[in-house]
Amino acid sequence: MSTQGREQAVERMRSAGVSRPAIDTFVTHYDKLAEGATGLIAEADVEPALPAVLQEDLPRDEAAAREALDRTVVITLNGGLGTSMGLAGPKSLLPVHDGLTFLDITVRQVLALRARYGVRLPLLLMDSFSTQDATLEVLAGYPDLPVGDLPLDFLQSQEPKLRADDLTPVDWPADPRLEWCPPGHGDLYPSLLASGLLDRLLADGYRYAFVSNVDNLGAVPDPALAAWFAGSGAGYAAEVCRRTEMDKKGGHLVRRRADGRLVLRDTAQTAPEELVHFMDGEKHPYVNTNNLWFDLERLRAMLEERGGVMDLPLIRNAKTVDPTDKASTPVIQIESAMGGAVELFEDAVSVGVSRERFAPVKTTNELLLLRSDAYRLDPQTYRLTRTVEPSPVVDLVKDHYAMISDFDARFPAGAPSLVDATRLQVEGDWTFGADVRVRGEAVLDEQGGQVPDGATLP
Ligand code: UTP
Repeated sequence: MSTQGREQAVERMRSAGVSRPAIDTFVTHYDKLAEGATGLIAEADVEPALPAVLQEDLPRDEAAAREALDRTVVITLNGGLGTSMGLAGPKSLLPVHDGLTFLDITVRQVLALRARYGVRLPLLLMDSFSTQDATLEVLAGYPDLPVGDLPLDFLQSQEPKLRADDLTPVDWPADPRLEWCPPGHGDLYPSLLASGLLDRLLADGYRYAFVSNVDNLGAVPDPALAAWFAGSGAGYAAEVCRRTEMDKKGGHLVRRRADGRLVLRDTAQTAPEELVHFMDGEKHPYVNTNNLWFDLERLRAMLEERGGVMDLPLIRNAKTVDPTDKASTPVIQIESAMGGAVELFEDAVSVGVSRERFAPVKTTNELLLLRSDAYRLDPQTYRLTRTVEPSPVVDLVKDHYAMISDFDARFPAGAPSLVDATRLQVEGDWTFGADVRVRGEAVLDEQGGQVPDGATLP
């Protein structure tokens, strides 16, 4: 195996000031990639895993909740680029409901819990080089947010994109920023360590972290779950939720036969011929939400033992150097998922949570739903709840709606009313006027056109 590509990549990372734990983690992954590792998990090697505990069975103990919340830090992942919705900056700055963005709502949920329980509950965003400036500018508008002298965010690392043909770092003089990418949210652990935050949090008496994606507004640091996790003594807990029709792609937890550990299996870790098992909702009835809890002390000890490297399963992400130009140089991005850490904790557990805690926005279909009256934002807790059960299905044809700029141009007056809808299917290029209502099932054909102001569909 040639080590030339690896050395060049490491040199680039050093010159760019990337931290030691991040470089060491990259090298571990690079070697696996160069050896041809696929990271695949075969169905024969695992068995289905059901949650050990259900949220609905947890006791309500106000004092235990307060105590646990006061020792919990909320970490929100804000480093992704939202490329599948055509974004190049923080997805969290998109308006979601009542003119508030993902970031506004996340901040207000935390402030509301602090006020209700009288706890510290710091919020830390994990930003990347593409999201930090814009995010901090918005957070400056929340003067009550900082806790003590803790920062509001920390920066995740960056790594070179590798040429798919020879795994050397790609050169892209037209826009050198495109030579770099964030290494996926598995970077959380080395970045917490390298930033010095892990030690500061422990020194300030925090013991637990609750982590979630910024695009999942259902992921509030729930007091009963916090109390349960603190009382469980487990090092790590993953929230899983019953699978629905919508969850075709999401990953799930399975138990590895060889050692009985819980492992996370995503689409990227499933061979194409095994996808049929992966998507079998009877066999694997729960999906991973990416809401998780871990014990900061246990993480610190684990990182120390492993020289700062969390050996998370490798995700080999094949893209082009300019993601908006499919004809540009093919590259491999080495990534890892934070939820992959479940297999590193021998006592990891999973907890089955209600659907309310899992409302990810991966496509503009989900964004339209959240922006509409199918959701309601509680003015005290800032929790987003559904007004219709089950949620109406939104299916917008990709060509005209998948990218956020196209989508916004077609809903200039905001989302239509969906509270009485069961389905909105748009097959052509339609622009919506103001105060449009959908009742039952509406299908707009391929021809496209203008939906007039005040119209009721169908
Ligand atoms: P996703 O993997 O869904 O990525 O991230 P994304 O950025 O939203 O979308 P695409 O794939 O580019 O279209 C899940 C969460 O993890 C964060 C994202 O900000 C999101 O909250 N994330 C992802 C990071 O913080 N860092 C990363 O390197 C990747």
